[in-house]
Amino acid sequence: MHAVGIVAAAGSGLRLGADVPKALVPLAGRPLVRWAVDTLRAGGVTEVVVAVPAADRAAFAAVLPDDVVLVDGGATRTASVRAALSAASAAADVVLVHDAARPLTPPEVVGRVLAALEAGARAVVPVLPVVDTTVAVGPDGMITGALPREQIRRVQTPQGFSRATLVQAYGRLPTHAELTDDAAVVHSAGVKVGTVAGDERAAKVTVAHDLVLAELQARA
Ligand code: C5P
Repeated sequence: MHAVGIVAAAGSGLRLGADVPKALVPLAGRPLVRWAVDTLRAGGVTEVVVAVPAADRAAFAAVLPDDVVLVDGGATRTASVRAALSAASAAADVVLVHDAARPLTPPEVVGRVLAALEAGARAVVPVLPVVDTTVAVGPDGMITGALPREQIRRVQTPQGFSRATLVQAYGRLPTHAELTDDAAVVHSAGVKVGTVAGDERAAKVTVAHDLVLAELQARA
């Protein structure tokens, strides 16, 4: 199975408060984007396309292997993945879309996603259970009802798709649509999305506190 990995790395990382794009921030001496690329490869992906901020292409090229393809990202994650998808090899059977912001994702998660695709899934995402009580709130902050946590999952990346499924779903998506992940893109096209076990180590680095925790984990 020919698997292409897409890394969404074109975010600015304003919430992290760094003076470089978030994906270039070092974690245990390695930029977040490099961790993400290395994880995909270690898990069985053969080709990688990375969406980067257009102004920082050279800085990304300097920290990534020569055979990684770089494309200019867009104003939203959805636009960045769309750009990377159009640069991915048409020979690929499956596409895995991963966030640069999840540097410590173990390669085993990549392996579980690939195995599900190999077994015939058209779309599959790694998920984790929710341990807290979950509720819905209204615009006034008041609780409007309970959400049974048994039915709720936290969704991580890499998310895997048959290439044809993802290309068709992006083809149907309005140009300026903005969704928070790719499972939502294929779901909006009527595709059923399966799940495999995620991993707490695949947590997203969003704010400075997350980076401190990731440093501790990376050095453990
Ligand atoms: O902002 P957030 O943490 O949700 O971003 C998730 C991932 O999407 C990050 O790895 C970020 O670099 C990427 N992204 C992107 N293009 C954008 C915005 C975010 O590739 N315009």
